[in-house]
Amino acid sequence: MNLKQLVGEKAAEYVKEGMVVGLGTGSTAYYMVEALGKRVKEGLSITGVTTSTRTKEHAEKLGIPLKTIDEVKKVDLTIDGADEIDAHYQGIKGGGGALLFEKIVADYSDKVIWIVDESKMVETLGAFPLPVEVMPYGSQQLVRIFEEKGFHPTMRKNDKEETYLTDGGHYIIDLQMDKIEDPNSLAGWLDSLTGVMEHGLFLNRVNTIIVGRESGLEVIEA
Ligand code: A5P
Repeated sequence: MNLKQLVGEKAAEYVKEGMVVGLGTGSTAYYMVEALGKRVKEGLSITGVTTSTRTKEHAEKLGIPLKTIDEVKKVDLTIDGADEIDAHYQGIKGGGGALLFEKIVADYSDKVIWIVDESKMVETLGAFPLPVEVMPYGSQQLVRIFEEKGFHPTMRKNDKEETYLTDGGHYIIDLQMDKIEDPNSLAGWLDSLTGVMEHGLFLNRVNTIIVGRESGLEVIEA
């Protein structure tokens, strides 16, 4: 059973006629966009707000009408994937590099749904490397600060081994933390660093989580 497809298709059912829908990024969100594209072809009228160039191109190909986040008053519902979700429903996102746009779209949404397979549900965040999106100018200074803290930073590379560039024109430093005991204080500290544009800690930002398990679907109201 393809659990990503299962949750992606389930989440698309939450989209109702006339909604402005935030379209997430990643291999799970891909299936939700596919399912929505199918419903649009069958007559559903919605407006999509994409969170990355990748999702924009996908949605355009499927004929989903799109607007940018600046062209809508608000987003009714955003559906997105996640890299890790802990026991308190706090998350790490940005494995796919779209964290800044994803957080912006989520923050202007009335409701956020995360769709994940069961492997993403953890007790404590941190086994998944925490992405930090930074301004290229001064980024080596941030790498040094993270090294001193023992966070094992690595500058993300693309498949050509060049420094990875986000849709916003920034770099990503991935932090190997192993266990993030206090996500709130880490998020506050990262927010305080000049040159950090955004980080992948998505705290208190989800309303509903749809988990795909081998035993079936679980819907959690967070
Ligand atoms: C994209 O930047 C991410 O936040 C994704 O939502 C996250 O990495 C989940 O991706 P997958 O669905 O591909 O695992």
